[in-house]
Amino acid sequence: VKSTGSARGKIILLGEHAVVYGVPALVAGIDREARASVQRASSTSILLAGQPLEANDALFEALSQASDLYGLGPLELELELDLPSGSGLGASAALGVATARALAHLADRLDEATIWRAAMAWERVFHKNPSGVDTTAAMRGGVLRYVRGEDPTPVRLGQSLEISVCVAGPPAPTAAMVESVARLRDRRPEAFTKNLAAIAQLVENAEPTLRSGDERSLGRLMDLNHMLLSSWMLSTEEIEAAREIARGAGAFGSKLTGSGGGGAVLAVGPSAPILDAWRAAGYVSFVAKIGT
Ligand code: PMV
Repeated sequence: VKSTGSARGKIILLGEHAVVYGVPALVAGIDREARASVQRASSTSILLAGQPLEANDALFEALSQASDLYGLGPLELELELDLPSGSGLGASAALGVATARALAHLADRLDEATIWRAAMAWERVFHKNPSGVDTTAAMRGGVLRYVRGEDPTPVRLGQSLEISVCVAGPPAPTAAMVESVARLRDRRPEAFTKNLAAIAQLVENAEPTLRSGDERSLGRLMDLNHMLLSSWMLSTEEIEAAREIARGAGAFGSKLTGSGGGGAVLAVGPSAPILDAWRAAGYVSFVAKIGT
């Protein structure tokens, strides 16, 4: 018998990277998901979007880390993904949570704490030092304020908000980006701490703008958060080009999301013209409705 699980991707509205060092982040689940289906087998195999993976693929290690917690032997795992991977949209965490849920069904151990541990063990294979923000968003959905090591707090929006999302850059490895930020911190600890405090302040100010639907203020805060992230060398020419296009189409603000160094860009403002402009420039883009 096959057991299945699914989980959503996410966008980090503000606070990525700083969240690794204990600053709160605002994160929202999006309605694009990962699905996993698992059954016992004589030897382990993984299919991603119908394609068998090579034995040296890191997903085998991730599966082994997660399934060990359930004491399961060899497995056949099938994965489907509605999200671009390596773009800061939480694809690896969504796959991890979807797989952990499928494993939990197979082992008939449905407690959330073990699902969380299994999904984090999976995530550690890709992210080395994950803050847990992606895994939390994949498990919980909705809009959340997340602090590393704490239960997330739901943020209730007065009305749903449309965030425009564009896949601007080439995929970027999160672990390497987190590592490069850690090196900056070692080199200039005082400047780094000041940046963390500034991001914490932006996150604090952004929460009420989400609740009241004040898109103009949210956009300004996103621009400021982006400036601080780019001072950590996380932006790229492709990201800046996508932001410029969004601004030209009437966006109130925009930023990279997730690890940066490539990947996705978020913009707040009138989504139809922003999406049209991105698509005309050849970018894959979509609208994420948050707080529904
Ligand atoms: O997986 P990504 O690209 O969404 O990045 C995760 C967010 C970071 O803050 C960069 C890392 C982390 O573990 O929180």
